[in-house]
Amino acid sequence: MAPPLIEMQDISRTYVMGDNLVHALRGVDLTIETGSSVAIMGTSGSGKSTLMNIMGCLDQPTRGSYRINGKNVGVMSKSQLADIRGRMIGFVFQSFNLLSRTSALENVEMPLMYQGVSGGKRHERAMAALEAVGLKGREDHHPSQLSGGQQQRVAIARALVCEAPIIMADEPTGALDTKTSFEVMGILQGLVAQGKTLIIVTHEADIAGYASRVITLRDGLIIEDKAQAPVDAAKELARVTAEKEAADRALAARKGERAS
Ligand SMILES: Nc1ncnc2c1ncn2[C@@H]1O[C@H](COP(=O)(O)OP(=O)(O)OP(=O)(O)O)[C@@H](O)[C@H]1O
Ligand SMILES: [Mg+2]
Repeated sequence: MAPPLIEMQDISRTYVMGDNLVHALRGVDLTIETGSSVAIMGTSGSGKSTLMNIMGCLDQPTRGSYRINGKNVGVMSKSQLADIRGRMIGFVFQSFNLLSRTSALENVEMPLMYQGVSGGKRHERAMAALEAVGLKGREDHHPSQLSGGQQQRVAIARALVCEAPIIMADEPTGALDTKTSFEVMGILQGLVAQGKTLIIVTHEADIAGYASRVITLRDGLIIEDKAQAPVDAAKELARVTAEKEAADRALAARKGERAS
């Protein structure tokens, strides 16, 4: 039998702050299978980002074991960790983390440059990733020339371009309005439908509703882990758009009555 995609056992992470120890994670056991969509919730300071950073091989636990695809992350060197990040994980952040002086296209090409992919292939794959998130025609725009939702879609394209099987997103809709959040979640759900594994940190119950599993942290421990039928973001977007159009039409009609 294939090992689970993600397998954490008794993961703890303690930060040393002068004379004090901060126990950000205090013994987390967590298994995530390929193709699932998992929302991680919990109040501020409960350990969500700490957990995500360890899962994403950006940080090492103080105690416990972590395996990706059966491979023990704890014994890996820095370059092995970088390699596994590059091949296995695409990251999406709350603040998009795009390079401001470069085009959407160049932002998406960046991870391929690190992997030594040739110029022609880079261009082709970055264009395809931008098209997949609905940004065809926007490739020459700089981040400041794009809306928040479009910037986040560039970030998703950048996370996709390496064809990593896991997408990790820390508050990906935190800086977006409700309608744009639906759009971004629709794209992320589409990736899950294609077989990717999505792990998303969020404060918002609405956003967690798009996942098929919700894990809640409190004080560095998992206090709840439940499966659910995910809400369909594309349907939700269609509903909100229709409601807005109806409201706009009603407003226009009232204006028309007053004018006549
Ligand atoms: N680099 C660090 N050094 C010291 N303490 C840290 C560090 N990073 C996080 N912590 C502490 O660890 C705990 C968990 O932090 P973490 O960032 O994981 O919380 P979070 O659930 O992501 O919160 P938020 O919702 O506010 O982003 C907090 O008490 C925080 O102060
Ligand atoms: Mg956080």
